Amino acid sequence: MLSSVWKMLRTNILVLMVLFTLGFSLVRATVSYDDKAFIINGKRRILISGSIHYPRSTPQMWPDLIHKAKDGGLDVIQTYVFWNGHEPSPGKYNFEGRFDLVKFIKLVQQAGLYVHLRIGPYVCAEWNFGGFPVWLKYVPGIEFRTDNQPFMVAMQRFVEKIVNMMKAENLFEPQGGPIIMSQIENEYGPVEWEIGSPGKAYTAWAAKMAVGLDTGVPWIMCKHEAAPDPMIDTCNGFYCQGFTPNKPYKPKMWTEVWTGWYTQFGGPIPHRPVEDLAFSVARFVQNNGSFFNYYMYHGGTNFGRTTAGRFIATSYDFDAPLDEYGLPNEPKYGHLTDLHKAIKQCEPALVSSYPVVTWPGKNQEVHVFKSKSGACAAFLSNYDPTFSTKLTFQNMPYDLPPWSISILPDCKTEVYNTAKIRSKGVRAKMIPVSSGLYWQSYNENAPSADDTDTLAMQDLWEQVNVTRDSSDYLWYLTQVNIASDEGFLKTGKWPLLTVMSAGHALHVFINGQLSGTVYGGLDNPKLTYTGYVNLRAGVNKISLLSVAVGLPNVGLHYETWNAGVLGPVFLKGLNEGTRDLTKQSWSYKDGLKGESLNLNTATGSSSVEWIEGSLLAQKQPLTWYKRFMIFPQIFRRNLLDMLNMGKGEIWINGESIGRHWPGYIAKGRCGHCNYAGTFTQTKCLSGCGQPSQRWYHIPRSWLRPSGNLLVVFEEWGGDPTRISLVRRTT
Ligand SMILES: *[C@@H]1O[C@H](CO)[C@@H](O)[C@H](O)[C@H]1NC(C)=O
Ligand SMILES: *[C@@H]1O[C@H](CO)[C@@H](O)[C@H](O)[C@H]1NC(C)=O
Repeated sequence: MLSSVWKMLRTNILVLMVLFTLGFSLVRATVSYDDKAFIINGKRRILISGSIHYPRSTPQMWPDLIHKAKDGGLDVIQTYVFWNGHEPSPGKYNFEGRFDLVKFIKLVQQAGLYVHLRIGPYVCAEWNFGGFPVWLKYVPGIEFRTDNQPFMVAMQRFVEKIVNMMKAENLFEPQGGPIIMSQIENEYGPVEWEIGSPGKAYTAWAAKMAVGLDTGVPWIMCKHEAAPDPMIDTCNGFYCQGFTPNKPYKPKMWTEVWTGWYTQFGGPIPHRPVEDLAFSVARFVQNNGSFFNYYMYHGGTNFGRTTAGRFIATSYDFDAPLDEYGLPNEPKYGHLTDLHKAIKQCEPALVSSYPVVTWPGKNQEVHVFKSKSGACAAFLSNYDPTFSTKLTFQNMPYDLPPWSISILPDCKTEVYNTAKIRSKGVRAKMIPVSSGLYWQSYNENAPSADDTDTLAMQDLWEQVNVTRDSSDYLWYLTQVNIASDEGFLKTGKWPLLTVMSAGHALHVFINGQLSGTVYGGLDNPKLTYTGYVNLRAGVNKISLLSVAVGLPNVGLHYETWNAGVLGPVFLKGLNEGTRDLTKQSWSYKDGLKGESLNLNTATGSSSVEWIEGSLLAQKQPLTWYKRFMIFPQIFRRNLLDMLNMGKGEIWINGESIGRHWPGYIAKGRCGHCNYAGTFTQTKCLSGCGQPSQRWYHIPRSWLRPSGNLLVVFEEWGGDPTRISLVRRTT
């Protein structure tokens, strides 16, 4: 009897396997879930994940980052897919270098970890334009992230491209690959709530489109309460213990555990104490959490011009467990590694039981997980932000510091407390490296409206419409005629020039001389220049250099937000009173002369005369600097100390290491930081009164032993002789 039942069962299993084989080309395993756990390959799991964005480091850094993530106890690496990096112009794809997505995923696979692929294609991520290519904005009739045909056609084309690419490389889990889940859209809940029915229609379409791609792994819609089945809605934030998915059969997922916060030029550096971070994670896990992902685990660098508007800094360190340069950020890295060991010891109990919750005393809470197989794990909490407490559990006393949770994987032994840091990781530090050699400079002169290589137009034009973001810089050029009988020529009371700009920074040149500089603030990128200008009788050249510092990445219909000098522009204090320059003839020059000459490269830089020695330009605006650097020894982690420079961009051997802006001094409230109590991004700040970003990462793989060409474009004026090389090490 028994054996014939077993035979029948076996036949059924075989039939099932055959059915699966028909569904997927190569069936190795499946990914499913219930309300308690992810089930991969038949194994119930609590998954520990961390975000590493491949273009924010170099392929040469990837193996070490992934290896350190594995050592840190992660099961999964999560990344966005960066559309504007992959499709810089329509139909022209780039999957090379830092954008070699397949290589990155294969390295994760080789390390034995899984991947959560957030295809988006909207990514937010403090990344330029939220990940959308700029050309997308100029597709006729387009509106981003809503029920709009041109947008949906473009989005589907890109998502399909990525999914097909992953399938072709057998990277989805049912094909034997590491990708166990994907994501469509990103934090769409608030947008849908705001725009109503077109948002709902778009969500329904996106979900259906994604499911239709038949990846064999679950799809996630993060921060989206109304996500339709089978999409899993998830939580992003500093705390997510109270979150529940919109259906009881979905797992409780925290897709972004914010490990810190991003730095802005003009803002101080945010930190999140690891005691609070570990506390928030333990609190989530003890409340049925089955997946959590650190955003970021390694933040890295916004190389080139990839950083988003609102003055996001080039460093995307994020106070993540691995610092910008890939070194452990201690004690954060070590203390989280210990947390993950403790959670893994509890896993057998966590994956198959709900907690029984009791409240033994004031601000005390106990969660006990007991599985049928006999596993028992307990989490003891003290929610008091000020006082430590003695908690009695199963007749045993436990000491809990304020705002902390102890983990007992056997319901007896405290192996971990979120506020007791035991790991002894060494903190990394900066070490100056001597490097002599001399600088050369080249001056970028302000063009004028009558130059032959300018574009003459009526009116003021929106900046991105002209540059298509191929450069940060757009010159607005015009001329003003001053009659010889103007009163101010006799009184010496110069007229007042007012220029209104949608952002983000502006230099005003009058007859080739810098007259003033203004830039937007963190709350508002718009700016107004007002200054008395030294005009003379006859024709005067007004040259406005408008600077965009990245395009916005977030906000309702951010694609419609403008940059550049939109006016009005007027002169006050003439005989006629005020002269409106807004509607007169303007000429445009897209980008800098040095950019069109490719001064950042060896060939380009040899096309102009550089000056040096006592003639070297110092503290002068719009100056290009270059020098050849020899590295007596190439250290693993090299940085430039830009303390004495103002604002601009840096290149090493032709590669842009990003925008520098040490001249933007951090304003804010810095001071003592107590880990206990609810954290917000403004709670623990450092570096007030100092440059928001002083050090700039030079990836090692961009260096060679000798003849390294370092080029700096300096907008404000600085002292290049004080740029110095620093290495970071433990
Ligand atoms: C865990 O999940 C179960 C089932 O949904 C629920 O009844 C219980 O309240 C949850 N416990 C906690 C602490 O969230
Ligand atoms: C861009 O400029 C063109 C003129 O070439 C104008 O017709 C168009 O309206 C502008 N588009 C936007 C979005 O500003």
